[in-house]
Amino acid sequence: MFAELLQNIREKKITVGIVGLGYVGLPLAREFLKAGFPVLGFDVDGAKVELLARGDSYLKHVDGDFIGRYVSNGKFQTTSDPERLREADAILICVPTPLGKHREPDLSYVLGSTREISNVLRKGQVIVLESTTYPGTTGEEMLPILEEAGLKVGEDFFLGYSPEREDPGNKNFSTGTIPKVVSGITEKCLEVVKTLYDQVVETVPVSSVEVAESTKILENTYRAVNIALVNELKVVFGRMGIDIWEVIQAAKTKPFGFQAFYPGPGLGGHCIPIDPFYLTWKAREYGIHTRFIELAGEINTHIPYYVVEKTTTALNERGLSMKGAHILVLGVAYKPDIDDYRESPAFTIMDLLEQAGAVVEYHDPYIPKLRKTRKYAFRKASKPLTPEGLRQVHCAIIVTDHANIDYDLVLRSVPVVVDTRNVLSDITQEGIVKA
Ligand SMILES: NC(=O)c1ccc[n+]([C@@H]2O[C@H](COP(=O)([O-])OP(=O)(O)OC[C@H]3O[C@@H](n4cnc5c(N)ncnc54)[C@H](O)[C@@H]3O)[C@@H](O)[C@H]2O)c1
Repeated sequence: MFAELLQNIREKKITVGIVGLGYVGLPLAREFLKAGFPVLGFDVDGAKVELLARGDSYLKHVDGDFIGRYVSNGKFQTTSDPERLREADAILICVPTPLGKHREPDLSYVLGSTREISNVLRKGQVIVLESTTYPGTTGEEMLPILEEAGLKVGEDFFLGYSPEREDPGNKNFSTGTIPKVVSGITEKCLEVVKTLYDQVVETVPVSSVEVAESTKILENTYRAVNIALVNELKVVFGRMGIDIWEVIQAAKTKPFGFQAFYPGPGLGGHCIPIDPFYLTWKAREYGIHTRFIELAGEINTHIPYYVVEKTTTALNERGLSMKGAHILVLGVAYKPDIDDYRESPAFTIMDLLEQAGAVVEYHDPYIPKLRKTRKYAFRKASKPLTPEGLRQVHCAIIVTDHANIDYDLVLRSVPVVVDTRNVLSDITQEGIVKA
């Protein structure tokens, strides 16, 4: 059975099931479709399933025509029926891993999907977790649930972990060109998982699922800590009248030993602000504090407050008060040129501004309307950028440096522009404030 499975994978005779068709799952489905595998997409969100079944896409960076082509030729099917997971030979789990109310890992999506798979598990199936999580999740949490089906891992079915490295909006890399770390519970599991991903991407095998889980946490913690460092230096140098952006530009010319990270309005996205705290939680089990992670979290969480303080001072210097000021937030996505606003610092900034009595609107070319998030419930729609509309605005805050915002128009019309992304670095004009 083992040799036959490997051969079927190489000959693309297996169906790949993807559980969770979001920012990670959908691009992954596209890679397996491109490589010639039939793909069965499973999501609990019926609206997404229907939209895809009509041959459409809801992600800016996944082409609707591509989806349409593979739906028409029957290679891409989508469903909300967990029973159908039985049809898939390989099942890749890409469901959310958020934090709970007390910043503890919320594994309910991962464990919920694992239970659904366990209900239909059959001999010869390969299960891989892609969601970011703490070391121990695959072996300690998922494996016992799957073995309830009465099958043996490494013999009857195969289990592994392969962290996603998706970077939406990155023009240089996409799912198919980013090497992928692969691992398995047993040696045979690793061989199957590696063979599967070898069909679509360059793989990097590691010795255990715990190493693979920890690799992803290291990658994200590395970013969180380095972003916190430049955010802290931004505040320190700013007080001294030194421009952090120019400092980084100069430091970057060192050909070794320095990698540039950039400050901003605070951390955002589904990964960097969240994932390191999965490790913090797990480390407590071993009586260890993750001090770097906590410190980085503290600094990065403070940055939206710093941006609002700088805005208040800038208004004050022009004889304006925050109370009653009309403020336009430019960009609410967590990074440029994408339509994802999960955990975006824009929300904290808007909340703080409103608490201080400002009238807050936003403009984001990719996000026409704000939906409720875990923490905030803003009922706002993107305000079009027009000379008339901008005339009422006392201050604009650039939170996201989308390339297609008409910054010249903003500068011509708005007296105070707070720039958290250094987009206006080449312009010297009264009223521009870096924050
Ligand atoms: N977005 C990124 O850039 C990125 C990058 C690397 C890693 N990750 C990690 O990948 C995982 C998924 O993130 P995402 O951004 O794709 O999330 P997402 O919210 O975009 O997508 C998750 C999907 O899973 C579905 N879902 C939830 N519970 C389900 C269940 N029980 N069965 C089937 N479907 C279910 C949701 O409806 C949603 O469509 C997370 O662990 C995240 O940390 C994300």
